[in-house]
Amino acid sequence: MQKKYLMTPGPTTVPSEVLLAQARPMIHHRTPDFNACVRECAEGLKYVFQTELSDVLMFASSGTGAMESAIVNCFCPGDKVIVCYNGKFGQRMESLSKAYGLEVTTLSYGWQQCVDPQDIADALAAAPDTRGVIVTQSETSSGVLNDVEAVGAIVRAYPECVLIVDSITGIGAVECKTDEWGLDVVMTGSQKGLMLPPGLAACTVSPKAWKAYERSTLPKFYFDWGKYRKSLKDDTTPFTPAVSLMIGLAEALRLIREEGIENVIARHAKLAEATRQGCVALGLELFAPPEGRGNAVTPVWVPEGIDGKKLVSTLKNKYGVTIAGGQDDYAGRIFRVGHLGYVGDFDVIVVLAALEMALKELGYVFEAGAGIKAAEAVLMG
Ligand SMILES: Cc1ncc(COP(=O)(O)O)c(C=O)c1O
Repeated sequence: MQKKYLMTPGPTTVPSEVLLAQARPMIHHRTPDFNACVRECAEGLKYVFQTELSDVLMFASSGTGAMESAIVNCFCPGDKVIVCYNGKFGQRMESLSKAYGLEVTTLSYGWQQCVDPQDIADALAAAPDTRGVIVTQSETSSGVLNDVEAVGAIVRAYPECVLIVDSITGIGAVECKTDEWGLDVVMTGSQKGLMLPPGLAACTVSPKAWKAYERSTLPKFYFDWGKYRKSLKDDTTPFTPAVSLMIGLAEALRLIREEGIENVIARHAKLAEATRQGCVALGLELFAPPEGRGNAVTPVWVPEGIDGKKLVSTLKNKYGVTIAGGQDDYAGRIFRVGHLGYVGDFDVIVVLAALEMALKELGYVFEAGAGIKAAEAVLMG
């Protein structure tokens, strides 16, 4: 037997309380019991997204479903949007926008750069009839955290322009103040900070985004927000929901409320810092820039002379610790340690210990135990 540890930025480990809730016998979704579950999920998600003003809609889909829903519900063909990206997932929003015939202005950055809010301000000033700005808060492919608060302050001045934020690995890991920051649509997926298996997505819809919905003419059916809003008023869903996942979500939200969202975020910040300090103490170089490091995932350069893919496979096969490799141009060149959702101090210690062992085996020279020691200092501090 080999004990397994899942340390990727999604899917993430599911707590036993949530697993057990999902294992309950199936119930019918048009029943008072399930209505109560929908109500609990909707209220709990509002708490997690830190919103009173927005509705929170839930879909039986992966996170990309929520992303697609944002496009088809906010825009008309030919609408101007500004898409900012500094990684793989922001690029997906660009592809989605183009797939639906939007006129896209792309602000693209290197994977080690943050989106510059001033560029958005300039692009909006140059095209004030822009209908949407789209930003990824926590770019999972690069670990970069973009300043959506600053972007919110800019977009707020344009009453016809909605701000759409992919916070799929942000929610539950970093601060995301939907109302306070003026974020119109914020999206997440279940397999991340919500500590569930994949298969559910959620997004917030602000009053401004509902106005965009009313004028939007892009074709929509399954993801038509209006259907979800109407059903939500009766504590139900327009289509057969992912019943077990939603029962699990109610449980996961209870756990988050018990800890308190501010404490959940503070825990992630500490674990991220411990991981970073641990890696630096091993002589490894962090990938994301100091001004934009998120709490969900720590990407690290594979040291010179080490085979990055072998490092990831050694961790998994020999030590039972699954981390993520790099994507696209960074495949084999970086590795990414996830510390998102149901994670605690000792998960970070485990992953650093396994990393040390795997690096040693692959011939990397460093002071054994240095990573753990540095991480412990953060965890105890
Ligand atoms: C930032 C970000 N956006 C979008 C997605 C896509 O979500 P999904 O794979 O659930 O469709 C992911 C998934 O990892 C992500 O991390």
